[in-house]
Amino acid sequence: MDGNGRWAESKGKHRVFGHKHGVRALRKAITFASDSNIQALTIFAFSSENWQRPAKEVSMLMELFFTVLKSEIKKLNKNNIKLKIIGELSGFSERLQKKVLEAEKATESNTGLVLNVAANYGGRWDITQAARKLAKLAASGELDADDIDEKVLAKAVSLDALPAVDLMIRTGGDQRISNFLLWQLAYAELYFTDILWPDFDASAFQSALDVFSGKERRFGKTSEQVSSKSS
Ligand code: IPE
Ligand code: MG
Repeated sequence: MDGNGRWAESKGKHRVFGHKHGVRALRKAITFASDSNIQALTIFAFSSENWQRPAKEVSMLMELFFTVLKSEIKKLNKNNIKLKIIGELSGFSERLQKKVLEAEKATESNTGLVLNVAANYGGRWDITQAARKLAKLAASGELDADDIDEKVLAKAVSLDALPAVDLMIRTGGDQRISNFLLWQLAYAELYFTDILWPDFDASAFQSALDVFSGKERRFGKTSEQVSSKSS
């Protein structure tokens, strides 16, 4: 969800204004994903590197995160959406951590869209925490190090309960992953748009899906194999 700051600045406003409108765009994206029967939507809300922003902007983003969590729980439940936060939660204040757990708990039995919010998240952090987890299991004798394969690692990183990511959308014009899901994006289609996040609406989301639908996903096979459905 990139481009909130530039969107606000282009209107002569403070970056905060952009973040607030970013929340509006997020609500639209969640509704769209839910209505389109998308199984899971994962949004990059705050990266491990975003702490380096000016303190004022960081604390404002934390406050926004808190208020949005608080105000949206009801709506998530009403729409059968299951919320999950991925990232290093211990980096947040006790108050925010509590709110996160509360929101997850309140929506845990919902069976519709899975909404993953990556907060204090980094793709490298994710792979590192997975390695640490597996190393501990190996050290305690619960896991044989020789049994660590891609399947085992895939179960140890975030989003482990979901199928591989199909599509990654980045708004705001930059064509980078910026330490978002690294392991999970291995075979994802990457879609970049110049639209700044607050302007990303249902039709922009649909355009990304249209491009995605036109892609032939070969997963290493030849085009002929894929089209004849033979392996
Ligand atoms: C993305 O918008 C939102 C967050 C990282 C929270 P930016 O704040 O990065 O907006 P630009 O890139 O400065 O326009
Ligand atoms: Mg940015």
